[in-house]
Amino acid sequence: MKKRIFITGASSGIGRATAELLVRQGHEVWGTSRDPARLPVDARFHPIALDLADSKSARESFQRALAEAGHFDVVINNAGSGHFDPGSTITEEIVREQFQVLVFAQIEIFQAALAAMRERGRGLIINVTSMAARLPVPYMSAYNAAKAAMASFTMTVQLELRASSIRVVDVQPADICTSFNEAVVQPATTDRALAQVWKQIDANLQAAPPPTLVARRLSLLIAQKNPPARVTVGGLFQAGVAPFIFRLLPQGVRVWGLKRYYRL
Ligand SMILES: NC(=O)c1ccc[n+]([C@@H]2O[C@H](COP(=O)([O-])OP(=O)(O)OC[C@H]3O[C@@H](n4cnc5c(N)ncnc54)[C@H](OP(=O)(O)O)[C@@H]3O)[C@@H](O)[C@H]2O)c1
Repeated sequence: MKKRIFITGASSGIGRATAELLVRQGHEVWGTSRDPARLPVDARFHPIALDLADSKSARESFQRALAEAGHFDVVINNAGSGHFDPGSTITEEIVREQFQVLVFAQIEIFQAALAAMRERGRGLIINVTSMAARLPVPYMSAYNAAKAAMASFTMTVQLELRASSIRVVDVQPADICTSFNEAVVQPATTDRALAQVWKQIDANLQAAPPPTLVARRLSLLIAQKNPPARVTVGGLFQAGVAPFIFRLLPQGVRVWGLKRYYRL
């Protein structure tokens, strides 16, 4: 069945690969960017300007898209970006900015989508969080914390909606080879240890699977009658082996393992 789908961050990476796949499959897609000129051009793709840094703008952009579409069968909260900074010195301003983009604006869109879906009694909302919610990336404390907050928010709503036919899914990608790292804001420092960790983080991303892997998984979720509550997607080690082993380990061993992984 052809669906009406809203997705944030459709100009690049996971969002773009997903929007392009969904359009090819015959769905109508409303996709966002801060700069709509960066969005795909297609008769079934509807560009929307949206900036998560401004809650009012995010809410209004979503409502404009909803009015244009009439309804959404699926809403995908995907857009996001990160900060690389030591947790010991990160400023309150950066933490607030990360939570604005990755939590507050996403909750606004989530609530608006849910309210509209409740009127029809059905729908699917997918929050793209991150494996970083469970396996944190060093020097990305605000990003990790915001993703963990959004994952927890998503699970809480799943408890509250359990008798509803509206489905909510937490999609947690591991490293995926996109332009994500190019947009990561970095501190002006010559600290060699920090530079070494960033090199490792970037090498992991460059060696990771392409965003089409996540796009295919999202497309499968959209087609499912009863999608799972949480999905991890990525390479076998990061998205399969590591989370499975981590579940069984005490916290001290988890920290030791992550330090080894990032060569800290
Ligand atoms: N790549 C990974 O390894 C990975 C792993 C786990 C989770 N994720 C998550 O997956 C999602 C997509 O990331 P990606 O890897 O596809 O990165 P990407 O290629 O950098 O794409 C990010 C998208 O988000 C949009 N965006 C960024 N900041 C925004 C803002 N303030 N307001 C509105 N839109 C904004 C960008 O649009 P414009 O710049 O055009 O506005 C772009 O379309 C993010 O939530 C990310 O945290 C990624």
